[in-house]
Amino acid sequence: MRWPGLIQQYREYLPVTNATPMLSLNEGNTPLVPLHSISEELGVELYVKVEGANPTGSFKDRGMVMAVAKAVEEGSKTIICASTGNTSAAAAAYAARAGLRCIIVIPEGKIAMGKLAQAVMYGAEIISIQGNFDQALRIVRDLSENSPITLVNSVNPYRIDGQKTAAFEVCVQLGGRAPDVLAIPVGNAGNITAYWKGFKEYHERHKTGLPEMRGFEAEGAAAIVRNQVIEAPETIATAIRIGNPASWKGAVQAANESNGKIDEVSDQEILEAYTLLARKEGVFAEPGSCASIAGVIKQVRSGEIKKGSKIVAVLTGNGLKDPNIAIEASSIAPVVLPNDEKVVFEHIRGAVLH
Ligand code: F0G
Repeated sequence: MRWPGLIQQYREYLPVTNATPMLSLNEGNTPLVPLHSISEELGVELYVKVEGANPTGSFKDRGMVMAVAKAVEEGSKTIICASTGNTSAAAAAYAARAGLRCIIVIPEGKIAMGKLAQAVMYGAEIISIQGNFDQALRIVRDLSENSPITLVNSVNPYRIDGQKTAAFEVCVQLGGRAPDVLAIPVGNAGNITAYWKGFKEYHERHKTGLPEMRGFEAEGAAAIVRNQVIEAPETIATAIRIGNPASWKGAVQAANESNGKIDEVSDQEILEAYTLLARKEGVFAEPGSCASIAGVIKQVRSGEIKKGSKIVAVLTGNGLKDPNIAIEASSIAPVVLPNDEKVVFEHIRGAVLH
């Protein structure tokens, strides 16, 4: 049967009325891929939820389809968001689909190239501020309170409702059981809040059990771990370069209620996980996503995650979003040769014999 998209598929779990449009770009239904090599290495059963397979290449599509559908239902003509890139790509795409105007506010110079390319192609109006994500979010929150523009950041509760559906899928894909551990990157903390809500709601209806929620911030932006706002967050993982997460309380609650933890990983650990995932498993996810894998490696080694655990790590965005980091992080570069079969053959033979 053809996948109908999130709103249709999960309508009984979502704030859907007869007036809600069945907006969709066929988001959701993303693969759960077992990581054979890394699992064996760590002595655990590790899977990744590949959210980069969504229509705009990140998990944001799940929340955005719901938020934009409700904006249309409520008669809104314009949506606005602050973003480190993925939210803006999703907002721009669903606004285009629904015929709404879309305004995005981004931190200048800190948006991965692929995400910017998406925003321009989908026709968003782009404002680049000389500030960071937290400052951009403050501006759009104020603006939306004083004008008829709908805010579609994850402080919009419809975003959380849409995103919680990923937890449903994880339970179904594991044969009707939640994993022991759910590992997830944490930036503005909306997604960990959404997953926890999703696991709890699904458990209530289907007795699927609950995972330990383990969230990972980047070390240079680890506000929740440090229990203090970071005024000038820095990390190579620009997606999660956030120093004052809007859903801070939701993240702490998810970790506490589930017997989990909010932890941090360094840029070095993120880049190692990023490369390992691509080289050993054939899975290419953007750096921010790989905070989940880096976190699993860290906590299995420390013993916080037990050997033999069934773990799902969320890969929040597609590797193609950030081509510059990929090229910079790799020691492999193309070998330039003349257009001569013999020379190419000799080179490859040399490489094979090496
Ligand atoms: N991973 C990726 C690839 C992201 O883009 C984000 C957030 C996160 C993880 C963290 O999710 O904020 O719910 O804790 N990106 C937002 C954006 C901030 O603007 O695209 P979170």
